Amino acid sequence: MKRTAFRPLRPLRRSSLSAAPTRPGPDSPMPMKTKTRTTLAALGAFWLTVAAASAAPADAAPALDSTRGQDPLLVRGRYLVEHVGLCADCHSPRNEKGEFVRELWLKGAPLPFQPTVPMPWSPAAPPLAGLPTMNLEQAVAFLRTGKRPDGTEARPPMPQFRFNADDAIAVAAYLKSLGK
Ligand code: HEC
Repeated sequence: MKRTAFRPLRPLRRSSLSAAPTRPGPDSPMPMKTKTRTTLAALGAFWLTVAAASAAPADAAPALDSTRGQDPLLVRGRYLVEHVGLCADCHSPRNEKGEFVRELWLKGAPLPFQPTVPMPWSPAAPPLAGLPTMNLEQAVAFLRTGKRPDGTEARPPMPQFRFNADDAIAVAAYLKSLGK
C-alpha cells in the first residue's frame, strides 16, 4: 500500500515555476524593485502564516489553567509540560474518540500502546496533577536525573528526562500548582 504521509503537501505546479521572476539582466527595467517586491511579499506571507499559527488554539486545550496569575515560573512550566515534554500524551486519559478528557487532564492514564519486543514496561502513567508522589525537591531531582527519591528509575515508556535546574523547577512547580 502506498503511504501518502510523505508526499509533498503542495505539489510544485508548472505555472508557479514559470511565474517565478527571471534573473534580472543588466538592462532589464528596475530589477531591484521587482526583486524587493517579491521578497517583501514572501516575507509578508511568512509572517501571516506565523501569526495564524500562533493565534490558533493549542490543540485539545488543557482543562486546568493554573497560570491565571501569569507567574512566569508557572507559565514556563506549563509551556514545558504541554509543548515540549508532551507529558499529557501518556499522563492524560482520552475518551473513545481519542480526545483528551478535560476534567482528567494530567490525572494519570492507562497506556494505549505496548512494545513489540520484551522489555521493561509500565502499563500506566501515574497522575501528575499536584505531583501526589513527590515533594517539589524530589520532583526536581527526578526530572534532572531520572531517579525517584528511592533511587529507582521510572520504567519505559517514561522518558529519562534531563531537564536543567531552571526547567525542572518550572515543570515541578507547575505540576504542583495543578493540585490546588
Ligand atoms: C511516553 C509516555 C510518557 C511521557 C511522554 C511522559 N511520561 Fe511520565 N511516566 C510514564 C509512565 C508509563 C510512568 C510510570 C513508570 C513506572 O511505573 O515505572 C511515568 C512516570 C512518571 C513519574 C513518576 C511518578 C512516580 O511517583 O513514580 C513522573 C514524576 C512523571 N512520569 C512525570 C512526567 C513529566 C513531567 C512528563 C513530561 C515532561 C512525563 N512524565 C512524560 C509515561 C510518560
